[in-house]
Amino acid sequence: MTIQLLSIQNIDQLYEKAFSILKEQQNTGAKNFGLATGGTMIPLYKYIRNSALDFSHCNSVNLDEYVGLPKSHPQSYFSFMRKHVFNTKPFGITYLPNGETANPEEEAKRYETTLKSLEIDLQLLGVGENGHIGFNEPGTSFTSETHVVTLTNSTRKANARFFHTIDDVPRKAITMGIASIMRAKQILLIAVGAKKRPAIQALLHGEITEMIPVTVLKKHGNVIVLTDLGFKNTNHDD
Ligand code: F6R
Repeated sequence: MTIQLLSIQNIDQLYEKAFSILKEQQNTGAKNFGLATGGTMIPLYKYIRNSALDFSHCNSVNLDEYVGLPKSHPQSYFSFMRKHVFNTKPFGITYLPNGETANPEEEAKRYETTLKSLEIDLQLLGVGENGHIGFNEPGTSFTSETHVVTLTNSTRKANARFFHTIDDVPRKAITMGIASIMRAKQILLIAVGAKKRPAIQALLHGEITEMIPVTVLKKHGNVIVLTDLGFKNTNHDD
């Protein structure tokens, strides 16, 4: 299986490239876009907001949402997506797990059923410092579908920068599972900054292991990794 590695050290050029991949997908008929949140996506979403692209005939499907934050909370992924994308670039239908639900397990099941009724043409992914994708933390089964997760301390610490204190970071989230993510036709993973080096190193040069969830992408036939980490531009074969 092949991973196409695009190593671009200039950050503006890197995000320009990410945008051009997305634009080309849209031009060639992609309809369902899997979207992510987090700091990595913010510059890409700025490109989208400032573009002439029209997504009103497309659908968006988000990877995950915190459990227990009201939608109106500025750090809910519902609010994040509105602020960075949807207020300016509305999609036809926008799917996000409902983190306000009284029954997160049921909501996870409902979301998975929705996902199965769609085919995601392009899935955007960031990666956690511990190699998580979505909120699939180390040790998550590669066969997992959408589920409720307890966030690791490392993830809560990393995300504390968006909250007043670490105690404000939710302890649970609903996330697409690894199997759900792997159903996407194409995946674009963006990894920027030295903290992501161990995860990308493992993806490009390590064993496939559930202890580093991102390594599952080696099993997918159509992945682009876009990074500023200075890895050599190449196609990586298993
Ligand atoms: C976000 C998500 C997470 C982030 C990852 C990286 O929807 O699913 O996996 O992509 O935690 O976050 P940032 O981009 O903030 O470093």
